[in-house]
Amino acid sequence: MSSLPATMRAIDPASPGGPDVLVVVERPVPQPGPGEVLIRVHAAGVNRPDILQRMGLYPMPPGAPTIMGLEVAGEIVALGEGVATLSVGDPVCALIAGGGYADYATAPAVQCLPVPPGMRFDEAATLPETWFTVWANLNDLAGARVGETMLVHGGTSGIGVTAIDFARSRDMQIIVTCGTDAKCQAAKALGATHALNYRDGDFAPKVRELTGGRGVDIVLDMVGGEYFPRNLASLRDGGRHVSIAFQKGNRLELDVGFLMRKRLHVTGSMLRPRSVAEKGAIAEALEREIWPLFTDGRLKAHLFRSYPLEQADDAHRLMESGGHVGKIALTLA
Ligand SMILES: NC(=O)c1ccc[n+]([C@@H]2O[C@H](COP(=O)([O-])OP(=O)(O)OC[C@H]3O[C@@H](n4cnc5c(N)ncnc54)[C@H](OP(=O)(O)O)[C@@H]3O)[C@@H](O)[C@H]2O)c1
Repeated sequence: MSSLPATMRAIDPASPGGPDVLVVVERPVPQPGPGEVLIRVHAAGVNRPDILQRMGLYPMPPGAPTIMGLEVAGEIVALGEGVATLSVGDPVCALIAGGGYADYATAPAVQCLPVPPGMRFDEAATLPETWFTVWANLNDLAGARVGETMLVHGGTSGIGVTAIDFARSRDMQIIVTCGTDAKCQAAKALGATHALNYRDGDFAPKVRELTGGRGVDIVLDMVGGEYFPRNLASLRDGGRHVSIAFQKGNRLELDVGFLMRKRLHVTGSMLRPRSVAEKGAIAEALEREIWPLFTDGRLKAHLFRSYPLEQADDAHRLMESGGHVGKIALTLA
């Protein structure tokens, strides 16, 4: 630890606001606690929850750093007490509860995954948040099985492109919705089975048509509001609905008779407040089931654009404009 500086660059907004609050400030280099590692951050992923946090709309779990950023990639420079599975110098990417937009960040050792061979740090930094989320919701909650069909909104979002890869890894059919024809093309090029432009009318009857009238097995929803009844109408009998966000409203109207007749399952989850042990279990499953697909080239990162830390405001503006396909990263080295 002695060779490390005492302070570092970080983005730690003093108050909520627009992208202009994302200015670089000086902060103390954090110390790894028991079971944690200290990472020299080479790149940090940018996610929609960061936008919500910047705007003051995302309740942070108690004790999470106020420095922004939920995922990083870099090299380990120090080990906390009791860490035996990782070494100083290891290149890792990690899911963290905050603190990623900075030169150094601490991460629980169990939430670190190796940087896949040949992958750049700015690419690897974009993997944890969406892969942990997609795995927790599609594998663990929805119990997605080989050969099933799912509907995923936001087909070119960070979550959407990861869900497409998840579907490919499991030989599933995936129907996505996107806001433009160009995004529909992009989603199909990435492997979506079908892509529907949600501005061209209600997606629900089209989903039924595409599934021969049966409906999909799973809906992964990030829209909420008026999409909820249409999502349920898109499900087969016994289908599973998983909510991960509610961009169009968190109050959902449910016809319980419809739910009963179709024997539907309605669930959802939020990654950030989950325990280190739960996140560690997800990391273990990802390393076993998904990381080998990066190693053998069947999957890749979907980095759309990187910005230096000083241009985090531009990175947020890009995300808010919806001009991206896949993921955005900040570079620090
Ligand atoms: N629960 C969790 O643990 C968790 C974790 C991570 C992320 N999330 C949530 O997952 C969502 C995606 O995150 P991200 O980082 O991947 O963000 P992102 O890349 O900015 O994507 C946001 C997406 O929302 C889509 N969208 C907005 N309104 C829509 C509508 N009416 N119909 C269909 N799609 C619509 C956009 O599609 P178009 O651009 O095509 O309009 C865009 O693809 C966010 O809402 C985020 O808060 C949840």
